[in-house]
Amino acid sequence: MDENFRIKQAEFATSYCIGQKLPAELPMELAIVGKSNVGKSSFINAVTGNGKLARTSQQPGKTRLVNYFLINRSFYLVDLPGYGFAKASKTEQKSWGELMENYLASGRVRHVIMLIDIRHEPTMHDLAMFRYLLYYGIPYTLVATKSDKLPRAKRVAQANANAKHLGAPPYAIPFSSQTGENLQLVRDRIGQIWADCLPRDDKE
Ligand code: GTP
Ligand code: MG
Repeated sequence: MDENFRIKQAEFATSYCIGQKLPAELPMELAIVGKSNVGKSSFINAVTGNGKLARTSQQPGKTRLVNYFLINRSFYLVDLPGYGFAKASKTEQKSWGELMENYLASGRVRHVIMLIDIRHEPTMHDLAMFRYLLYYGIPYTLVATKSDKLPRAKRVAQANANAKHLGAPPYAIPFSSQTGENLQLVRDRIGQIWADCLPRDDKE
């Protein structure tokens, strides 16, 4: 595998909502989950090096659809709507639940990158999401976002403590889409997941 995994090409592919057909499957679909406003769309923009790819907003609840991005013309990165959006109505919460249930239970997702805010203990929604991943046996990587908001000396310990609170092994990657902290580490992780998905013959 390439030591420094590179994203050479990234483009918006399609959006999915309930009732529509999902796009044809590729060898890998990597989904980004996390509470509303945690930085999922910013994460996708940072990782792809394209600040305009996924729409971001200071207002929680910006992403309402499942957005597919095609990476290196080979696999999908998938931006999901956030959970725990305080102002969401009951109807919105229900449709969010159905959308996620439909999507995550589809068996298409090879790996989930779950984002948690480095500054806060996981919420009950984070706990529910994490249990969901375990229930469906979906492999995951934990990334602690907005690391720039904590003093450098506290980042690793805080990220790991939050992972532990979630009930996971105590490891989350401190990450900032603003400063690019651990950006290459995250890209390499994606490269690793991608290499694991390929049939043996295709591996470099
Ligand atoms: P929804 O689509 O509503 O679920 O939100 P999201 O998780 O996609 O969050 P988004 O990427 O839109 O970011 C939300 C806000 O957090 C925006 O104002 C971003 O600029 C800010 N933000 C995202 N990542 C970082 C980060 O690493 N550091 C800092 N300081 N701010 C960030
Ligand atoms: Mg978003």
